[in-house]
Amino acid sequence: MTSATMDPMTQTLTEAAPAKINLYLHVTGKRPDGYHLLDSLVVFAGAGDTLRYEPGPEALHLVLAGRFGAALSDAAGPDNLVMKAATALEAVCGPEARIQGGRLVLEKDLPVASGIGGGSADAAAALRLLNRAWSAQVGHATLLNIAEKLGADVPVCLASQSARMEGIGEVLSAAPALPDCGMVLVNCGQAVSTPDVFRKRDGAFLPRAALPARWPDAATMVADLAELDNSLEAPACVVCPPVQTVVSAIAALPECLLSRMSGSGATCFGLFPSVWSAQAAAARLAQSQPGWWVWGGGLV
Ligand code: C5P
Repeated sequence: MTSATMDPMTQTLTEAAPAKINLYLHVTGKRPDGYHLLDSLVVFAGAGDTLRYEPGPEALHLVLAGRFGAALSDAAGPDNLVMKAATALEAVCGPEARIQGGRLVLEKDLPVASGIGGGSADAAAALRLLNRAWSAQVGHATLLNIAEKLGADVPVCLASQSARMEGIGEVLSAAPALPDCGMVLVNCGQAVSTPDVFRKRDGAFLPRAALPARWPDAATMVADLAELDNSLEAPACVVCPPVQTVVSAIAALPECLLSRMSGSGATCFGLFPSVWSAQAAAARLAQSQPGWWVWGGGLV
């Protein structure tokens, strides 16, 4: 599990909220309540938001900063997932917890509503951060329970470690051991609504994937992933046609092994044989498409 770092001078705690990427995502069924059953391999990238907690006498509140902070400026109130996480955590704290107010500063460096779990990662980071800051010692099972209620992607973001995700997102198991590889993330700048994408699905279901215990190298992993799919990519291309352009642009980059959309989009990823080749490819794409958000690096 990622853990908070503390500045000893200011008592400020900082927690990383890494982007989640669905290497494949099969919609395998649908529950009577309308939620979809999924089978997905989730990994985490070096890209992410950052959440900082500055304890203080004022009531706990959220301040938005970073490249995409303005995109959320109307959403710093109690409905923000970070504040909902804080409220839910406070509700389960025992008498030993030292609950305090102050400022939560969210550096929003990931595009919003973009299929890489930014809001979910932020909520999970808030649970980890405040559990430590308040010395609340709320156990992992209770945190998972809170996470599940906050959103389908929040449980997997709690540990921020690669995992196989099933159920509607709450059934987590070990992912295959991943080989070294690099990743490029690209977003065209159009926010996509997850319910809209699910609604545009054709209704077909894909099977649960057969995965090995480990992949010895990137080529073997990519060969297996190429047989799998993101069930939401085709409907996302209807909701947001630039997704198709982005997938093709990533696939055309030198050394790209696989190009696909993550989650319900619109962010797409490319897998590369090394971090270095991913960074070089990202620099090249950022130059030719200055309006896109482009990131290249490794997995965490
Ligand atoms: O749980 P979360 O708020 O992330 O989900 C947003 C929406 O996406 C849900 O209201 C639902 O319409 C859809 N969804 C789904 N099946 C999932 C996850 C999300 O249908 N497993």
